[in-house]
Amino acid sequence: MNLAIFLSGTGSNFKAIAEAIEQGKIPAKITLVASNKPDTLGLITAKDMGFYTTVFQRSEYPDGASFANYMLGILSEREVHLIALAGYLRKIPPNVLRAFSNRIVNIHPALLPKFGGKGMYGMNVHRAVIEAGESESGVTIHSVNEEYDCGEIIAQRRVPVLTDDIPETLAARVLKVEHQFYSEVIKEFAIRINKELKLND
Ligand code: GAR
Repeated sequence: MNLAIFLSGTGSNFKAIAEAIEQGKIPAKITLVASNKPDTLGLITAKDMGFYTTVFQRSEYPDGASFANYMLGILSEREVHLIALAGYLRKIPPNVLRAFSNRIVNIHPALLPKFGGKGMYGMNVHRAVIEAGESESGVTIHSVNEEYDCGEIIAQRRVPVLTDDIPETLAARVLKVEHQFYSEVIKEFAIRINKELKLND
């Protein structure tokens, strides 16, 4: 299975997945790492590690359709079977969603459907969880559709919120689980998709 990873930030989830693949834990190959910004740490790291990288910058295209066509062109060129969003903070164009139906997953650092939606990313999520007085948070991996954080939930893992937590301490505890959990879920996709690819051979 060829995997594309889309990111907008640090890229620690991307690195964890790349390491799990390197260690033979996921039967997949990362054929594309993409970001909406050229100067993100995650993209620079991916480039340094020798991965094929690209930037999807909507402002460089006259309209949504030509932007989506560019994205689809690269995805096809890199023979991508699954797209994993790892801290990617842009919507995926409808044409790409259609072409990759049930083949785009996202990781969210809370227990959806709570603490999701526009503006709910990174530290904002953990701050909201603590302010709401929750005793547990977690990680959600879900299918991606037109709305932020609204696609079908694929898997969730719980993480405790401690009484003395600040957003940063909770974020660190959740992120540690994300790294392990995302690799586990992507592994399941890879096993299934590899089987399908063999059947269609
Ligand atoms: C992760 O915590 C991920 O769950 C979150 O962004 C962070 C990216 O970290 N995603 C969202 O909040 C999506 N709504 P990373 O760049 O170090 O992988």
